[in-house]
Amino acid sequence: MFLLTNSAARAGVPAGHAALLRGAPLLDVLEIALREAESDREERSLGLGGRPNFLGQVELDASLMDGATRRTGSVGALQGFLHPVSVARQVLERLPHEILVGEGAALFGREIGAETGNLLTPESEAEWREWLRREGSIEPASARVWRTVSFGSQRDTAIVLASDGTHLASGTSTCGWPFKYPGRLGDSALIGSGHYADSRAGAAACTHTGEMAIRAGTARAVVLALQRGRSAEEACQEAIEDVRQLRTGLLSDLIVHALDRAGNCCVRSTGIEGGYWWWSRGMNAPEERAAIVM
Ligand code: GLY
Repeated sequence: MFLLTNSAARAGVPAGHAALLRGAPLLDVLEIALREAESDREERSLGLGGRPNFLGQVELDASLMDGATRRTGSVGALQGFLHPVSVARQVLERLPHEILVGEGAALFGREIGAETGNLLTPESEAEWREWLRREGSIEPASARVWRTVSFGSQRDTAIVLASDGTHLASGTSTCGWPFKYPGRLGDSALIGSGHYADSRAGAAACTHTGEMAIRAGTARAVVLALQRGRSAEEACQEAIEDVRQLRTGLLSDLIVHALDRAGNCCVRSTGIEGGYWWWSRGMNAPEERAAIVM
Protein backbone atom coordinates (compact mmCIF):
# COMPACT_ATOMS: atom_id res chain seq x y z
CA MET A 1 0.00 0.00 0.00
CA PHE A 2 1.25 3.44 -0.93
CA LEU A 3 0.01 6.99 -0.67
CA LEU A 4 1.54 10.03 -2.37
CA THR A 5 0.04 13.50 -2.09
CA ASN A 6 1.44 16.97 -2.54
CA SER A 7 1.45 19.81 -0.02
CA ALA A 8 -1.77 21.36 -1.31
CA ALA A 9 -3.52 18.13 -0.27
CA ARG A 10 -1.91 18.02 3.19
CA ALA A 11 -5.26 18.42 4.99
CA GLY A 12 -6.36 15.15 3.37
CA VAL A 13 -3.32 13.09 4.35
CA PRO A 14 -4.56 11.76 7.75
CA ALA A 15 -8.02 10.80 6.46
CA GLY A 16 -6.68 9.33 3.22
CA HIS A 17 -4.08 7.34 5.08
CA ALA A 18 -6.66 6.03 7.56
CA ALA A 19 -8.99 5.04 4.71
CA LEU A 20 -6.20 3.15 2.95
CA LEU A 21 -5.27 1.34 6.18
CA ARG A 22 -8.83 0.18 6.81
CA GLY A 23 -9.01 -1.22 3.27
CA ALA A 24 -11.37 1.30 1.71
CA PRO A 25 -11.67 1.09 -2.10
CA LEU A 26 -9.01 3.24 -3.77
CA LEU A 27 -11.50 5.71 -5.25
CA ASP A 28 -12.91 6.22 -1.75
CA VAL A 29 -9.40 6.87 -0.44
CA LEU A 30 -8.84 9.54 -3.07
CA GLU A 31 -12.25 11.13 -2.64
CA ILE A 32 -11.93 11.22 1.15
CA ALA A 33 -8.47 12.81 1.00
CA LEU A 34 -9.43 15.35 -1.66
CA ARG A 35 -12.66 16.34 0.08
CA GLU A 36 -10.64 17.21 3.20
CA ALA A 37 -8.25 19.23 1.05
CA GLU A 38 -11.19 21.01 -0.63
CA SER A 39 -12.51 22.01 2.83
CA ASP A 40 -9.15 23.46 3.92
CA ARG A 41 -9.83 27.20 3.63
CA GLU A 42 -6.18 28.02 4.38
CA GLU A 43 -5.11 26.30 1.15
CA ARG A 44 -5.89 28.79 -1.60
CA SER A 45 -5.32 26.56 -4.63
CA LEU A 46 -8.58 24.63 -4.43
CA GLY A 47 -12.07 24.35 -3.02
CA LEU A 48 -13.27 26.64 -0.23
CA GLY A 49 -11.00 29.68 -0.15
CA GLY A 50 -9.66 28.97 -3.63
CA ARG A 51 -8.62 31.96 -5.71
CA PRO A 52 -11.22 33.13 -8.26
CA ASN A 53 -11.04 33.80 -11.99
CA PHE A 54 -10.81 37.43 -13.11
CA LEU A 55 -14.58 37.86 -12.71
CA GLY A 56 -14.34 36.86 -9.04
CA GLN A 57 -15.86 33.40 -9.56
CA VAL A 58 -14.17 30.35 -8.05
CA GLU A 59 -14.03 27.85 -10.92
CA LEU A 60 -13.03 24.32 -10.04
CA ASP A 61 -11.42 21.42 -11.90
CA ALA A 62 -11.26 17.94 -10.35
CA SER A 63 -10.95 14.38 -11.52
CA LEU A 64 -10.35 10.76 -10.58
CA MET A 65 -8.94 7.80 -12.47
CA ASP A 66 -9.28 4.14 -11.58
CA GLY A 67 -6.13 2.35 -12.77
CA ALA A 68 -7.82 -1.05 -12.70
CA THR A 69 -10.47 -0.16 -15.28
CA ARG A 70 -9.04 3.08 -16.67
CA ARG A 71 -12.41 4.66 -16.09
CA THR A 72 -12.22 8.35 -15.32
CA GLY A 73 -14.50 11.10 -14.11
CA SER A 74 -13.72 14.81 -14.45
CA VAL A 75 -15.39 18.12 -13.95
CA GLY A 76 -14.05 21.43 -15.20
CA ALA A 77 -14.88 25.11 -14.73
CA LEU A 78 -17.47 24.11 -12.14
CA GLN A 79 -18.84 26.84 -9.89
CA GLY A 80 -20.68 26.73 -6.59
CA PHE A 81 -19.95 23.17 -5.44
CA LEU A 82 -18.04 22.51 -2.23
CA HIS A 83 -16.65 19.16 -3.35
CA PRO A 84 -15.95 19.01 -7.08
CA VAL A 85 -14.12 15.73 -6.59
CA SER A 86 -17.37 14.09 -5.49
CA VAL A 87 -19.13 15.36 -8.61
CA ALA A 88 -16.23 13.96 -10.67
CA ARG A 89 -16.59 10.64 -8.85
CA GLN A 90 -20.24 10.42 -9.87
CA VAL A 91 -19.36 11.23 -13.49
CA LEU A 92 -17.18 8.12 -13.31
CA GLU A 93 -19.80 6.02 -11.51
CA ARG A 94 -22.98 7.05 -13.32
CA LEU A 95 -22.30 8.39 -16.79
CA PRO A 96 -21.07 7.09 -20.12
CA HIS A 97 -19.00 10.30 -20.35
CA GLU A 98 -15.60 11.01 -18.84
CA ILE A 99 -15.64 14.84 -18.52
CA LEU A 100 -18.35 17.44 -17.85
CA VAL A 101 -17.64 21.15 -17.80
CA GLY A 102 -19.32 24.42 -16.85
CA GLU A 103 -23.10 24.53 -16.83
CA GLY A 104 -23.42 20.85 -17.74
CA ALA A 105 -21.26 19.84 -14.80
CA ALA A 106 -23.33 22.09 -12.52
CA LEU A 107 -26.58 20.59 -13.83
CA PHE A 108 -25.25 17.12 -13.07
CA GLY A 109 -24.03 18.26 -9.63
CA ARG A 110 -27.53 19.51 -8.78
CA GLU A 111 -29.10 16.31 -10.12
CA ILE A 112 -27.02 14.15 -7.79
CA GLY A 113 -27.59 16.47 -4.82
CA ALA A 114 -23.92 17.48 -4.46
CA GLU A 115 -23.31 20.10 -1.74
CA THR A 116 -23.42 23.68 -2.97
CA GLY A 117 -21.99 26.78 -1.32
CA ASN A 118 -20.10 30.02 -1.73
CA LEU A 119 -16.43 29.20 -2.10
CA LEU A 120 -15.16 32.78 -2.24
CA THR A 121 -13.89 33.52 1.27
CA PRO A 122 -13.32 37.11 2.46
CA GLU A 123 -9.53 36.59 2.09
CA SER A 124 -9.79 35.45 -1.53
CA GLU A 125 -12.30 38.18 -2.35
CA ALA A 126 -10.07 40.87 -0.81
CA GLU A 127 -7.09 39.64 -2.81
CA TRP A 128 -9.14 39.64 -6.02
CA ARG A 129 -10.50 43.16 -5.34
CA GLU A 130 -6.97 44.42 -4.70
CA TRP A 131 -5.86 42.91 -8.03
CA LEU A 132 -8.83 44.55 -9.78
CA ARG A 133 -7.97 47.90 -8.19
CA ARG A 134 -4.37 47.64 -9.40
CA GLU A 135 -5.46 46.60 -12.90
CA GLY A 136 -8.01 49.42 -13.15
CA SER A 137 -10.06 47.45 -15.68
CA ILE A 138 -10.21 43.90 -16.89
CA GLU A 139 -10.77 44.90 -20.53
CA PRO A 140 -9.40 43.71 -22.88
CA ALA A 141 -9.27 40.55 -20.84
CA SER A 142 -7.34 38.51 -23.37
CA ALA A 143 -4.37 40.86 -23.07
CA ARG A 144 -4.53 41.27 -19.31
CA VAL A 145 -4.70 37.55 -18.62
CA TRP A 146 -0.99 37.33 -19.47
CA ARG A 147 -0.32 39.45 -16.39
CA THR A 148 -1.88 36.79 -14.17
CA VAL A 149 1.02 34.54 -15.18
CA SER A 150 3.07 36.48 -12.65
CA PHE A 151 1.10 34.76 -9.87
CA GLY A 152 3.26 31.77 -10.73
CA SER A 153 4.06 30.62 -7.23
CA GLN A 154 0.34 30.29 -6.49
CA ARG A 155 -0.58 27.88 -9.27
CA ASP A 156 -1.01 24.69 -7.36
CA THR A 157 -3.28 21.63 -7.35
CA ALA A 158 -4.08 18.99 -4.77
CA ILE A 159 -3.04 15.61 -6.13
CA VAL A 160 -3.32 12.13 -4.63
CA LEU A 161 -1.88 8.86 -5.96
CA ALA A 162 -2.68 5.65 -4.09
CA SER A 163 -2.08 1.93 -4.38
CA ASP A 164 -3.65 -0.94 -2.44
CA GLY A 165 -0.76 -3.20 -3.46
CA THR A 166 -2.54 -4.46 -6.57
CA HIS A 167 -4.22 -1.49 -8.17
CA LEU A 168 -3.46 2.20 -8.47
CA ALA A 169 -5.63 5.29 -8.74
CA SER A 170 -5.04 9.01 -9.16
CA GLY A 171 -6.98 12.17 -8.41
CA THR A 172 -6.78 15.95 -8.48
CA SER A 173 -8.65 19.05 -7.37
CA THR A 174 -7.84 22.71 -8.03
CA CYS A 175 -9.20 26.18 -8.75
CA GLY A 176 -6.52 26.62 -11.38
CA TRP A 177 -4.58 29.82 -11.21
CA PRO A 178 -5.47 33.18 -9.66
CA PHE A 179 -7.56 35.49 -11.87
CA LYS A 180 -7.43 33.12 -14.82
CA TYR A 181 -9.60 33.64 -17.90
CA PRO A 182 -13.12 32.31 -17.13
CA GLY A 183 -13.62 28.90 -18.68
CA ARG A 184 -9.91 28.08 -18.67
CA LEU A 185 -9.48 24.35 -18.08
CA GLY A 186 -6.29 23.23 -16.41
CA ASP A 187 -4.47 19.94 -16.62
CA SER A 188 -6.19 18.70 -13.45
CA ALA A 189 -9.41 18.09 -15.38
CA LEU A 190 -7.61 16.47 -18.30
CA ILE A 191 -6.73 12.83 -17.98
CA GLY A 192 -3.30 12.12 -19.41
CA SER A 193 -2.13 15.67 -18.79
CA GLY A 194 -2.66 16.36 -15.09
CA HIS A 195 -2.80 12.76 -13.95
CA TYR A 196 -3.07 9.16 -15.10
CA ALA A 197 -3.26 5.73 -13.46
CA ASP A 198 -2.81 2.32 -14.99
CA SER A 199 -2.50 -0.61 -12.59
CA ARG A 200 -0.27 -2.44 -15.08
CA ALA A 201 2.44 0.21 -14.78
CA GLY A 202 1.98 3.05 -12.30
CA ALA A 203 0.45 6.44 -11.75
CA ALA A 204 1.51 10.03 -12.24
CA ALA A 205 0.26 13.53 -11.52
CA CYS A 206 1.44 17.06 -12.21
CA THR A 207 1.14 20.27 -10.27
CA HIS A 208 1.80 23.89 -11.05
CA THR A 209 1.49 25.18 -14.65
CA GLY A 210 -1.21 23.05 -16.24
CA GLU A 211 -0.58 24.53 -19.67
CA MET A 212 2.82 22.78 -19.74
CA ALA A 213 1.38 19.39 -18.78
CA ILE A 214 -1.43 19.78 -21.33
CA ARG A 215 0.97 20.54 -24.17
CA ALA A 216 3.28 17.65 -23.32
CA GLY A 217 0.65 15.10 -22.19
CA THR A 218 2.92 14.67 -19.21
CA ALA A 219 1.09 12.28 -16.88
CA ARG A 220 0.40 9.79 -19.64
CA ALA A 221 4.01 10.10 -20.85
CA VAL A 222 5.28 9.20 -17.36
CA VAL A 223 3.03 6.15 -17.10
CA LEU A 224 3.99 4.97 -20.60
CA ALA A 225 7.66 5.30 -19.62
CA LEU A 226 6.99 3.17 -16.53
CA GLN A 227 5.25 0.65 -18.77
CA ARG A 228 8.34 0.54 -20.98
CA GLY A 229 10.37 -0.43 -17.91
CA ARG A 230 11.79 2.94 -16.91
CA SER A 231 12.22 3.60 -13.18
CA ALA A 232 10.04 6.27 -11.54
CA GLU A 233 13.08 8.53 -11.51
CA GLU A 234 13.86 7.99 -15.19
CA ALA A 235 10.21 8.48 -16.12
CA CYS A 236 10.09 11.84 -14.29
CA GLN A 237 13.35 12.90 -15.84
CA GLU A 238 12.19 12.04 -19.38
CA ALA A 239 8.95 13.96 -18.82
CA ILE A 240 10.76 17.02 -17.55
CA GLU A 241 13.24 16.95 -20.41
CA ASP A 242 10.29 16.76 -22.82
CA VAL A 243 8.59 19.78 -21.21
CA ARG A 244 11.85 21.68 -21.47
CA GLN A 245 11.77 21.24 -25.24
CA LEU A 246 8.78 23.63 -25.41
CA ARG A 247 9.96 26.93 -26.82
CA THR A 248 6.89 29.14 -27.31
CA GLY A 249 3.69 30.09 -25.51
CA LEU A 250 3.58 30.17 -21.74
CA LEU A 251 6.76 28.59 -20.37
CA SER A 252 6.76 28.08 -16.62
CA ASP A 253 7.33 25.48 -13.93
CA LEU A 254 5.89 22.01 -13.51
CA ILE A 255 6.24 19.42 -10.75
CA VAL A 256 5.93 15.77 -11.78
CA HIS A 257 4.93 13.02 -9.33
CA ALA A 258 5.42 9.37 -10.32
CA LEU A 259 4.60 6.12 -8.53
CA ASP A 260 5.36 2.73 -10.04
CA ARG A 261 3.35 -0.39 -9.29
CA ALA A 262 6.09 -1.68 -6.94
CA GLY A 263 5.78 1.44 -4.80
CA ASN A 264 8.81 3.42 -5.92
CA CYS A 265 8.01 7.11 -5.98
CA CYS A 266 9.75 10.10 -7.43
CA VAL A 267 8.85 13.81 -7.40
CA ARG A 268 10.82 16.20 -9.61
CA SER A 269 10.37 19.89 -10.32
CA THR A 270 11.55 21.98 -13.25
CA GLY A 271 12.42 24.81 -10.87
CA ILE A 272 9.80 25.80 -8.32
CA GLU A 273 10.07 24.31 -4.83
CA GLY A 274 7.37 21.84 -3.86
CA GLY A 275 6.61 19.53 -0.98
CA TYR A 276 4.88 16.19 -0.91
CA TRP A 277 3.71 13.53 1.54
CA TRP A 278 4.69 9.91 1.15
CA TRP A 279 3.59 6.79 2.99
CA SER A 280 4.26 3.14 2.25
CA ARG A 281 3.41 0.07 4.31
CA GLY A 282 6.02 -0.30 7.03
CA MET A 283 6.31 3.44 7.69
CA ASN A 284 4.74 4.61 10.96
CA ALA A 285 3.12 7.66 9.43
CA PRO A 286 3.14 9.71 6.22
CA GLU A 287 6.34 11.73 5.90
CA GLU A 288 6.79 15.18 4.37
CA ARG A 289 9.50 15.49 1.75
CA ALA A 290 10.72 18.06 -0.75
CA ALA A 291 10.58 17.65 -4.52
CA ILE A 292 13.99 17.49 -6.15
CA VAL A 293 14.55 20.47 -8.41
CA MET A 294 16.19 19.44 -11.69
N1 GLY B 1 -2.01 22.50 -12.35
C1 GLY B 1 -3.05 23.37 -12.01
C2 GLY B 1 -3.56 24.16 -13.13
O1 GLY B 1 -2.77 24.58 -13.97
O2 GLY B 1 -4.73 24.39 -13.19
